[in-house]
Amino acid sequence: MSLTRGQLWRSARDQLASVGIETAALDARVLLAHGLGLDRTQLIASEAEPVGDADIAAYEALVARRLAREPVARIVGRQEFYGLDFSLNEATLIPRPETEMLVDFGIARLKGRQGATILDLGTGTGCIVLSLLANLPDAKGVGVDLSVRALAQARENAVVLGLDNRFAALEGSWFAPVEGRFDLIVANPPYIASDTVKELAPEVALYDPGLALDGGQDGLEPYRAIAAGAADHLDPGGVLAVEIGFDQGARVSRLLEDAGLSGVGVEKDLAGHDRMVVAALPGLP
Ligand SMILES: C[S@@+](CC[C@H](N)C(=O)[O-])C[C@H]1O[C@@H](n2cnc3c(N)ncnc32)[C@H](O)[C@@H]1O
Repeated sequence: MSLTRGQLWRSARDQLASVGIETAALDARVLLAHGLGLDRTQLIASEAEPVGDADIAAYEALVARRLAREPVARIVGRQEFYGLDFSLNEATLIPRPETEMLVDFGIARLKGRQGATILDLGTGTGCIVLSLLANLPDAKGVGVDLSVRALAQARENAVVLGLDNRFAALEGSWFAPVEGRFDLIVANPPYIASDTVKELAPEVALYDPGLALDGGQDGLEPYRAIAAGAADHLDPGGVLAVEIGFDQGARVSRLLEDAGLSGVGVEKDLAGHDRMVVAALPGLP
């Protein structure tokens, strides 16, 4: 007896729920839509349709990956961020909603400025800088990453979004490959202390690349490098915005103040956690 789409979805939902996956219903639906090449609305409207054996086997393989705690975004190979679609590969972090704060900040600072320049350190998929460019039609952006594979993904995302004529991807460590000064520097660097990476949820610890998570012994190594180079790469009056872990606001603020930046402030995310530190290079007298 063949199964309908609805029966198949409910069976997968129950399997995912039985291992404690809180988003079981949504995950099962997204994976079934992906497996059948439908959008979720089409799927919901056609739950009584029978599913062939080959499609059932393919779906079960997708569900098995989720049962092994692989995130849905990795299984389907893409994630929405700031209303745009970003493809992923094994070298890129899955863009997180809380990182959209950096984009909001950058747009507010640069809107209306002619020819604004943006540097994104640790660009990954390119989600921060490309979202900024999509909303600032006159701006140009540079993304830096130590991972060649991540940069290849950022370049591909730029092409798909039609932003490649205003985006350059540079390989190297933080400011090493960068020349010149920028109106805005953004970064969501790795900020988890090395010892605690393995304690993260399995979706993160097992599937996000270590290079995107591990911030060294105290989680602050990338901020030291970013603080050390910021004054040499910001235009006078230019601003820096970095994402931080919930307990890093005071320490990252001090690093930026010690590096000669002014107006240092910590901003909270929608959950009320410290999430971003902003700072500026004092303008010309
Ligand atoms: C937390 S992920 C952020 C990725 C992306 N910006 C985002 O918000 O989704 C940090 C990124 O920094 C990169 N990275 C790690 N060490 C680096 C270094 N020394 N220089 C440049 N990039 C580095 C990683 O490869 C990764 O892409």
